[in-house]
Amino acid sequence: MGIKVGVVGIGTFSDDFIRLFKMHPDVDDVILCDLVEERVKKSLEKHSLTKSYPDFDEMLKDDSIDSVAVFTQRHLHGPMVVKALKAGKNVYSAVPIACEIDEIKEVIETVKETRKIYMMGETCYYYPCAIYCRKKYKEGGFGKFVYGESQYYHDISEMYADFKHSAGNDDWRKPAGIPPMFYPTHSISMLLSALPEGEHITKVSCFGYEDHHEDAIYGEGKNYWDNPFSNETALFKLSGGGVIRINEFRRVGINKPSSYITAFYGQEGSYECSVTQHTFQRGAVAPDGPRIEYLDEVVNCYNYINDKKAGTMDMTKDPCSVRYIVGYAPVHDVERLPECYHDEKAFNHFNSHPFLVDDFVKAVVTGKLPPNNAWDAARYMIPGLVAHESALKGGVTMDVPDFGDAPSDWERLFD
Ligand SMILES: NC(=O)c1ccc[n+]([C@@H]2O[C@H](COP(=O)([O-])OP(=O)(O)OC[C@H]3O[C@@H](n4cnc5c(N)ncnc54)[C@H](O)[C@@H]3O)[C@@H](O)[C@H]2O)c1
Repeated sequence: MGIKVGVVGIGTFSDDFIRLFKMHPDVDDVILCDLVEERVKKSLEKHSLTKSYPDFDEMLKDDSIDSVAVFTQRHLHGPMVVKALKAGKNVYSAVPIACEIDEIKEVIETVKETRKIYMMGETCYYYPCAIYCRKKYKEGGFGKFVYGESQYYHDISEMYADFKHSAGNDDWRKPAGIPPMFYPTHSISMLLSALPEGEHITKVSCFGYEDHHEDAIYGEGKNYWDNPFSNETALFKLSGGGVIRINEFRRVGINKPSSYITAFYGQEGSYECSVTQHTFQRGAVAPDGPRIEYLDEVVNCYNYINDKKAGTMDMTKDPCSVRYIVGYAPVHDVERLPECYHDEKAFNHFNSHPFLVDDFVKAVVTGKLPPNNAWDAARYMIPGLVAHESALKGGVTMDVPDFGDAPSDWERLFD
């Protein structure tokens, strides 16, 4: 018998996940829940589903539902996740884990207590560049990590419509002006997840770009946080000694890709991406001897990381037609997915959705700890919350709290 998944939050983002949950061979039913009746009605029809609840608490009382997927607005995640775990449900949550450090701590404590599956759907964990660096690091391609750069660029003007839809009749500018570093999970996860388990951020210094744009989203009194910054740049110190630079920009003239790793440097090898080119090279000097290994050429791994169609294009003749975000990349392990997902061609997010849904379902079915569990998700999020404080204080260096590793006696879903 398969699992039954109750999806709460039938806004814009959950639609593709409802479809994928329904397709998964280990899922028997998908049940919907939203405060807005019309959204539920439309979605039930679109996905040929029958059951729904107008109220989250009522859905949690349904004993036939063993798992809940949270797709409500981001500030609601923490308390809803805790409630669902305490009601005995396994929980999938869209990013982020929660928006305050105390809430994040409570999610971790509740997972520890209940031993239910919690997984955050970090789309960037399955971005080809992140998978590539993770694999290369495991193989020893980089040696010890020294420095990395990643970013999430998403101009706020492209999100006006989303915030308007989400806010309903309320002032959409208020939530839109969220400090960029309160959404660092995409950028941080791409680098941290490539490093060994246990690696985490210990310190931060961050600066912000004060925004005076006419759309009046940023500044005192203009948003819930009195946040003046549309862009924030942070330098983080890692427990293993390395340093990472993260950009969270919401006012920037760049289109795609939005989240990517620009640099991942080890003592022995380095990955670099300049949007259209991805390269890998090795070359390091041992302390008292010759080079450990040296590749004369820089390896162009572009065809391995971009989607298959992009890989066949001649960039010199047709540079504008790079299709960064459609279909699986060769670096994706499509074979590990149920067959029904093999031909997926996601519209966005580098086809990461099938992997996320499959990880969660596999974790629930086996009881094993998935990647992007509560401990991982906390490490992707808390550093950004502290980074914003640093930016408000003009860049002072601050300590970043850490809630430790996932219990070692919990078998991992993947090695
Ligand atoms: N790449 C990514 O990982 C990515 C991309 C987009 C969105 N997201 C995340 O997905 C989540 C959803 O985004 P969205 O754009 O669909 O938001 P949205 O505002 O369009 O939808 C949220 C829905 O939740 C419903 N809701 C809120 N409280 C509820 C409650 N108590 N009970 C039932 N329903 C409730 C609202 O009525 C609304 O329909 C956000 O948290 C966002 O951070 C992640």
